[in-house]
Amino acid sequence: MDSTTTESPLIKIIVGSVRPVRVGDQLAAALVPPIAGAAQARVDIVDLADVALPLLDEPKMPALGQYEKAHTLAWSEIVMDADAVIFLTPQYNGGYPASLKNAIDYLFHEWRDKPTFIISYGGHGGGMSAAQLRSVLDFIRMDVVADSVELTLPRDSYGADGRLIDAQPIVAAHAGAVRAAASALGRGLRNRKDGVAA
Ligand SMILES: Cc1cc2nc3c(=O)[nH]c(=O)nc-3n(C[C@H](O)[C@H](O)[C@H](O)COP(=O)(O)O)c2cc1C
Repeated sequence: MDSTTTESPLIKIIVGSVRPVRVGDQLAAALVPPIAGAAQARVDIVDLADVALPLLDEPKMPALGQYEKAHTLAWSEIVMDADAVIFLTPQYNGGYPASLKNAIDYLFHEWRDKPTFIISYGGHGGGMSAAQLRSVLDFIRMDVVADSVELTLPRDSYGADGRLIDAQPIVAAHAGAVRAAASALGRGLRNRKDGVAA
């Protein structure tokens, strides 16, 4: 039973891959129920393919907060509106996708102290992508509350169309790690609400 209310904190899963044929969107959908349950929070999906940011085209440094483009203001709102974010990232050539770095670089103050953790995926769990991303999240001073979750995607989990046959068993195979990280995020959010120091 869904025990969340409109008062519950809002977590946004940021889907970092934007390829026309991809699996990040499928994994995000399968991750919503276990994360919402463990964190006791509302969970929305923010798909960077829909946000559709061009390569960073703001004339001023994002740290100045003087955005000129409508797409930047819209993206800023999306992030500001979240109590926490989860970065869902594939591994591309030992790192995380340019689409995700671009989206991060658009903003600055919006990220500061925002609770977060990383879910990476790939043939071996995407750990190199998560490590790279983690160093950036630390640099922009996000509040990384849990170790990264690494989803292993066996080759036979893909159909001939390049999509996952079923994302649910992949998430289920990592249920313990997903639950632990999401619980930590939910706990952190409740402590913040109650004014408990981290
Ligand atoms: C450009 C590119 C580079 C990749 N590099 C890696 C890699 O370094 N390690 C890995 O395990 N898988 C790698 N893969 C396989 C991806 O993990 C797999 O295609 C996954 O489905 C990508 O996520 P997406 O479908 O959401 O874009 C790569 C895929 C692409 C498209």
